[in-house]
Amino acid sequence: MSPRTIQVSPFDLVVFGGTGDLAARKLLPALFQRDRAGQLPEQARIIGVSRKALGDGGYLRFVRQALEAHVKPAELEGAALERFLARVHFCAVDVTGDGGWSELATLLSEDVAQVRTFYFAVSPDLFAPISQRIGRFGLVTPESRVVLEKPLGKDGEGARVVNEAVGRVFGEHQIFRIDHYLGKETVQNLMALRFANRLFEPLWNSTHIDHIQITVAEDLGVGERGGYYDTSGALRDMVQNHILQLLCLTAMEPPDAFEADAVRDEKLKILKALRRIDDHTAEAATVRGQYRKGSVGGQPTQGYLEDLAAEESETETFVAIRAEIANWRWAGVPFYLRTGKRLAARTSEIVVNFRPISHSIFDHTAGRISQNRLIIRLQPDEGMTLEVMIKDPGPGGMRLRRIPLDMSFVETFGVSNPDAYERLLMDVIRGNQTLFMRHDEVAAAWNWIDPILSAWKHTAQRIHPYPAGAWGPSASIALIERDGRTWLEDTE
Ligand code: BG6
Repeated sequence: MSPRTIQVSPFDLVVFGGTGDLAARKLLPALFQRDRAGQLPEQARIIGVSRKALGDGGYLRFVRQALEAHVKPAELEGAALERFLARVHFCAVDVTGDGGWSELATLLSEDVAQVRTFYFAVSPDLFAPISQRIGRFGLVTPESRVVLEKPLGKDGEGARVVNEAVGRVFGEHQIFRIDHYLGKETVQNLMALRFANRLFEPLWNSTHIDHIQITVAEDLGVGERGGYYDTSGALRDMVQNHILQLLCLTAMEPPDAFEADAVRDEKLKILKALRRIDDHTAEAATVRGQYRKGSVGGQPTQGYLEDLAAEESETETFVAIRAEIANWRWAGVPFYLRTGKRLAARTSEIVVNFRPISHSIFDHTAGRISQNRLIIRLQPDEGMTLEVMIKDPGPGGMRLRRIPLDMSFVETFGVSNPDAYERLLMDVIRGNQTLFMRHDEVAAAWNWIDPILSAWKHTAQRIHPYPAGAWGPSASIALIERDGRTWLEDTE
């Protein structure tokens, strides 16, 4: 099946942090891919902004190198690369001073009617000064939008300050708070699965679901990002945004329509219904871990402190949480959340574990009747598996076994899915906010995270070491086993 593309309106995309890591690894490759697919109109321009005095020539070299590093060589062949490079411009701007802004204004004034997008791929403490100058230099047009990269603050108060500063210049309908997990194909498929099928929704509640696991495991360590990561940790870096978004989409009520505010209203209700974890409950409901040296995929790897070149650190590289949603649908259904660096494998999945059948008509010779499970895989092999009980084929009487009804999207559709940024960047240009977070969602997510962070601090909750290549510390296994349950990889 060939992917369908609909051209977006002409646009100028101004990337603050244009020479940064995110631009090189994600934004430029994503824009290049969309251009290759024919989605960018002729007039579309990409304007890299940075403090460095690079000039158009220097920036073009940077872009070329970024694409060579992050796009398959075969995809760079032909006219595609030159066509893309012809869209690229550069402007040296001092984002905390006044230098370069007039030049940027002149560049943008060439076509004021077209969509104008400012992408903030910079540290969040620059969001306010950049917004303020965008306002002061009169760069906001009716067709302007701004994209804010995470982290949005280090806590609720920090996020409020950022939201307020950006909100003074841009209207909420112009602000796109990006969480790239929402652009992943399977995450959107979760909504299709839930709301375009009769099959699951009647079962999607505490009467039929025993518990849900959400795992986002990475095999990589912190790499070059140690400086940022050590001030953040897994809870802020992954749970406050990506994992809570996955939880919201799994647990929310059906919105009236697949429209931005309808979807976001429902997600917000879930965030507000999350049972608070505080000084009294954090020890039992959360586990913090930090990787030590070990081996991942047969390769010896060093520990977090060595990666950081530090003597000590109190930052968690792993977190597991037993979360509860206090509402009618989910009362009594735990959501076990976990994420970590340097785990056994790179895998992200949502596992919906159904309750046991109410009565078995089979005698003991049939064997154990395992519970149904629906596994929604985000990566690496995107797809879904529904585990059902069947009779073991052939003679030998009525013996039962659980088998997977497996669907891999790549195998089934024969297309590899576009990177999340490709989809999300095009949504920004189109002005579609459905897959972006509203300010109140971000605030509600922090409202749940802040008490956990402060409980860890007040109670000096210990960090459990785990060897690189494990599934986190044993305390994480204990967290779920205390409830008589096991993580997916520990089941047969
Ligand atoms: C980012 C985090 O938001 O997501 C990183 O800051 C993490 O620490 C990354 O590695 C994971 O994204 P993905 O798409 O590779 O699962």
